[in-house]
Amino acid sequence: MSEDLNLTHLAIMISGRGSNMRAILEAIQSGIVENVLPEIVISNRADAAGLEIAKKFGVPTVVFQNNELRGWAYDVQIANLLDDLGLKRSSLLICLAGYMRILSKQFIQKYRMQILNIHPSLLPSFPGLDAQNQAIKYGVKVSGCTVHIVDEGVDTGWILMQKAVQVYDNDTAETLSARILKWEHMIYPKAINSYLKGKIKINREKTA
Ligand code: GRF
Repeated sequence: MSEDLNLTHLAIMISGRGSNMRAILEAIQSGIVENVLPEIVISNRADAAGLEIAKKFGVPTVVFQNNELRGWAYDVQIANLLDDLGLKRSSLLICLAGYMRILSKQFIQKYRMQILNIHPSLLPSFPGLDAQNQAIKYGVKVSGCTVHIVDEGVDTGWILMQKAVQVYDNDTAETLSARILKWEHMIYPKAINSYLKGKIKINREKTA
C-alpha cells in the first residue's frame, strides 16, 4: 500500500444498487475527488448490484452475508478486514452508500469522524427508512439530500453538505427519489473532497 501521507484510503459500504458508489468512483477517476484511493467495497448482500459496478472499476469487493449476527459481532468482521488490508485509521475514510445495516456503537467509536453517509432528505427532517415517502406523506414542498458524518444516532451526525429540491403536488416517492438521487450523485463526491481538505466547518456544539 502507498505510504503517501496525503492519500486517503477509501472503503465503501453498500447493500444494493450502488449508484452513489459509482458516482464516488467516477469522481475519483475524473479528479473531482483528489488524493483518494478506493481500496475495498464491502456489501452485506451477495446480490447487491453495486458489486459488479465496483469490479468494473477494478475495486476489490468483499461480502459478509451472515446478517443474523448483530452489532459488533457482525461489524468486527469489517474492522478486521480493514486492519488486514493495512488500512490505518489515520488515513481511512468509510463511505456508506445505501448500506442498510445499522452500525454498532463500537464500530462508530473506532472510526469516529471517519464514516460518512448520504441520506435522501434534508436532515434533521425525515431520518430513517423511506425518507422520500415520509416527505411526500408529510406534504413538504421542499426536500433534498444530506451528506453527514455518522454518529451513534440514526442520521443524526454532523451535516457536511445539503441540497434542496422542490417537491411537486403530483410527486410520488419514486419521482421524488429520482429527482433527489441526481443531486446525491453530485453532492456526495463534493462533500467527500471538501471534508478531506478540511474545508467544511463542523459545528461541534450540535445537540442531537
Ligand atoms: C440512496 O437514496 C441513499 O441516499 C440512501 O440509499 C440510497 C442508495 O442508493 N442512503 P444507491 O445504492 O447509492 O443507488
